[in-house]
Amino acid sequence: MSTRGKVRKAVIPVAGRGVRMLPATKSYPKEMFPILGTPVLQYVVEEAVRSGITDILMIIGKRKNAIMDYFNRDFELENHLAQKGKDDLLKEIERISNLANIYFTYQKESKGLGDAVSYAEEFVGNEPFALLLGDNIFYSKTPCTAQLISIFDRYQVSVIMVEKVPEFKVSRYGIIKGRKIGERLFEIEDLVEKPSLEEAPSNFAIGGRYILTPDIFSCIRRTPPGRGGEVQITDALRLLNRKLGYITEGKRYDIGDKLDYLKAQIELGLKREEFRDELREYLESLCKNVCSEE
Ligand code: G1P
Repeated sequence: MSTRGKVRKAVIPVAGRGVRMLPATKSYPKEMFPILGTPVLQYVVEEAVRSGITDILMIIGKRKNAIMDYFNRDFELENHLAQKGKDDLLKEIERISNLANIYFTYQKESKGLGDAVSYAEEFVGNEPFALLLGDNIFYSKTPCTAQLISIFDRYQVSVIMVEKVPEFKVSRYGIIKGRKIGERLFEIEDLVEKPSLEEAPSNFAIGGRYILTPDIFSCIRRTPPGRGGEVQITDALRLLNRKLGYITEGKRYDIGDKLDYLKAQIELGLKREEFRDELREYLESLCKNVCSEE
């Protein structure tokens, strides 16, 4: 396959205000919230790297400097850990700084996700790229982005991760209208950003992972502000000639939502061997006690 078709770049927008996670997000980015001691954004970056991505552009906004500090090297910390003989921690800290080539740019004004993505045009050039929203993480056997890339490799058109959501969640997401062309694959006919249940064309939601062709940038330029007065990537996608929706295998957590964030911590904790038994026992006794109190 030509390099033109190979997905090796990713864009991670992390400029959103995080209103649903206030007051914590007043001064701290939600993408840096920890799950078992690791920031959400590191899970996202590791998913990209495990999917074959080598170059990442993060689009940041105000109050997001903690993100740049995190992926930058900290020689003072490294020396300190070396002197104290904390080799495992030192290795992990060095590994984080070397995960990928990471670049940053600022979104000048909060004008929406579509506007944020438009800042990546020069970085992306004439290549297909992965778009990973910095507040969504996945637990799956094959990384979510890798699953989408294999669909892209086959069809060479933009592919969007979709997921069936319960009706009460429809108005929180971009929703697709699609025609099923495979067990997990849709030809997308239309998309609506955060519709009411009555307006929603289906209950298949856009789940924060996309493989996009560079013609998305001219689509963004032609997209007027939509929902919330912001330029929406969902509206820009409507203008793409052809796009597919793919139901990926695995579980998604929306860290921008307080309950989902809590669930992610518990579920990922149960999957971690060092915590599994004690946490399971704790949860079981907690449930018994709470039920008997009711
Ligand atoms: C964004 C997108 C939306 C998508 C969602 C997934 O919304 O605009 O289409 O369904 O991410 O998390 P946000 O959550 O940034 O408001």
